[in-house]
Amino acid sequence: MSKKILVTGGTGYIGSHTVVELQNAGFEVVIADNLSNSKIEVLDALEQITGIRPLFEKVDLSDAQATSEMFDRHGDIKAIIHFAAFKAVGESVQKPLEYYRNNLNSLMNILDNMRSRKIKNMVFSSSCTVYGQPDQLPVTEETPRKPAESPYGNTKAIAEDILRDFCKVHPEISCIALRYFNPIGAHPSALIGELPIGVPGNLVPFITQTAAGIRKELSIFGDDYQTPDGTAIRDYINVVDLSEAHVVAINRLLEQKAVQNYEFFNVGTGNGLSVMELVQTFIRVTGVKLPYKIAPRRQGDIEKIWADTTISNKELGWEAKKTVDETLLSAWNWEKRVRGL
Ligand code: WQD
Repeated sequence: MSKKILVTGGTGYIGSHTVVELQNAGFEVVIADNLSNSKIEVLDALEQITGIRPLFEKVDLSDAQATSEMFDRHGDIKAIIHFAAFKAVGESVQKPLEYYRNNLNSLMNILDNMRSRKIKNMVFSSSCTVYGQPDQLPVTEETPRKPAESPYGNTKAIAEDILRDFCKVHPEISCIALRYFNPIGAHPSALIGELPIGVPGNLVPFITQTAAGIRKELSIFGDDYQTPDGTAIRDYINVVDLSEAHVVAINRLLEQKAVQNYEFFNVGTGNGLSVMELVQTFIRVTGVKLPYKIAPRRQGDIEKIWADTTISNKELGWEAKKTVDETLLSAWNWEKRVRGL
């Protein structure tokens, strides 16, 4: 009987790609999602890709009663991957209470049920945003965290502290936090991908929507940073590579290979790329026109960050493999399919 994994936020961008890799690895998956930022049709796409329709529970995980009742219906969950959270940086500045309530109550409800139902393993979706603007680059797992630039980022930092303190008094439970850098791209089938609701905040969906003619032109936020071409630098990681890191982390827990019962890893490529380099790469690999202009810096943006992946490569035995070229092409193929181009 294959092991059942609960994937919260599993109809979302990274969650759905991780469900594919979990099913490919032979796990049974149940998705818990409130569909606040994703569509139920993702289940059809997942079934098309893997031939297996994941189980699905529509549930608000910030509601303790509803969450407990969901766990009642799935007594055989062996491990949890917890993605479900509000994640729009800008929106979090405008709605801090909603972000703290949703992101932290959901996590604590999950941990309550892990404790009471003897579910021993969780992989948590964290973010490089906990590093703020690092003083030294690349960032390692030892790089000190810095005060978050947004309530969203702060919910990730507080969540990590909750996991650390909870695991300290529950040696029977093991958690791994994966600190994502910038996830981009789409599944090679172009059946799942990033589908932001409204105007995209993130760079790559804004690029692909501009290329598709949905947005008039891309604004490059700032070209006066202390970087070679003046635009900000990030570590862009292919979403399928990122999803595979979750399967590796789940197996590390299930096979009890974790060294501590709370661990965290940088999940990036180790390469920094500027906004302008990414834009020029997109134009080169797709051959499409991409109107853009230089605009003022965006408030809250950091200048540059990329990962030192030595620990995650060595400890997890995982590394990002896909190139930026193929990743941007996958994002464009997804956009074209969604828009019927
Ligand atoms: C990347 C670069 C922008 C849009 C955020 C979260 C982080 C993680 C990834 C969840 C920046 C520039 C962007 C545009 C632009 N999310 N940009 N024009 O801000 O690095 O990280 O998403 O875990 O936690 O903070 O990603 O894609 O928004 O921006 O020039 O229209 O692209 O200024 O330099 P970011 P992003």
